[in-house]
Amino acid sequence: MAEHIDANRIHLDLRYRFDYLSKFLNFTSDDIAMLNTFAPLVFPLIPVLADTVYRKLFSFDITKQYFLKRNEGFEGFLPKKQCGVTLDSAQMELRRDMLSMYLKRILTQRDWNDTFLQYLSQIGKIHTDQAGSASINVDYMHINALLGYLEHLLIDVLCTTDTIDEKTKRGILMAVNKLFWIQNDFFTMHYLISVKASTPSRKTSETEKTTKCCWI
Ligand code: HEM
Repeated sequence: MAEHIDANRIHLDLRYRFDYLSKFLNFTSDDIAMLNTFAPLVFPLIPVLADTVYRKLFSFDITKQYFLKRNEGFEGFLPKKQCGVTLDSAQMELRRDMLSMYLKRILTQRDWNDTFLQYLSQIGKIHTDQAGSASINVDYMHINALLGYLEHLLIDVLCTTDTIDEKTKRGILMAVNKLFWIQNDFFTMHYLISVKASTPSRKTSETEKTTKCCWI
């Protein structure tokens, strides 16, 4: 018999949504353990990974522009000549740190508790226009591209590691893939709310109205 999943609740209850997604993807505590095993292999490379990600984002004007827009807050404490955003400027250093912290957290988290789910969700939300003053409003296409690129970088780290056996490598590979699809869902759920809210011809249902304030 098919397991019942409440169509409204997956839009209202983050834990319920995650549980459904986990069952669908077969994401279990074994996958979390695999991510934790991967963490010490990735850690020494995190500065390089963060740098590579920002080099990618700065290699296209369409992605670079988001960082130019967010430059104002930094100008006050930077020498005049540093006010333009370059990859080695102080604000980019801070952004690389934020990405490094994110990577460390997603790999080391042992208990995927509600606080952690809200963290994953919050990362998604700030990139949309749904997060108030924290909103960055990045077009979802670039999120999708970067998720793919970041996953590729991590798989590359895994493939070039010779200190773990093939079975563990396979387990880590599967876990990393699931992690990215879960994070992708935690981005898209906010983007879909955004799309629905901006579609004028369609009446917003009660569920969607509530959803907007239920997800962090
Ligand atoms: C793989 C997808 C992505 C992940 C995991 C990610 C992760 C993050 C994280 C962890 C932060 C810091 C949030 C905070 O604590 O305040 C952040 C901020 C930011 N992200 Fe992303 N991001 C992604 C994609 C993108 C893309 C594609 C762009 C632009 C093209 C972008 C632009 C920004 C900007 C402008 C900020 C704000 C930085 C600031 O305050 O100056 N992100 N992102």
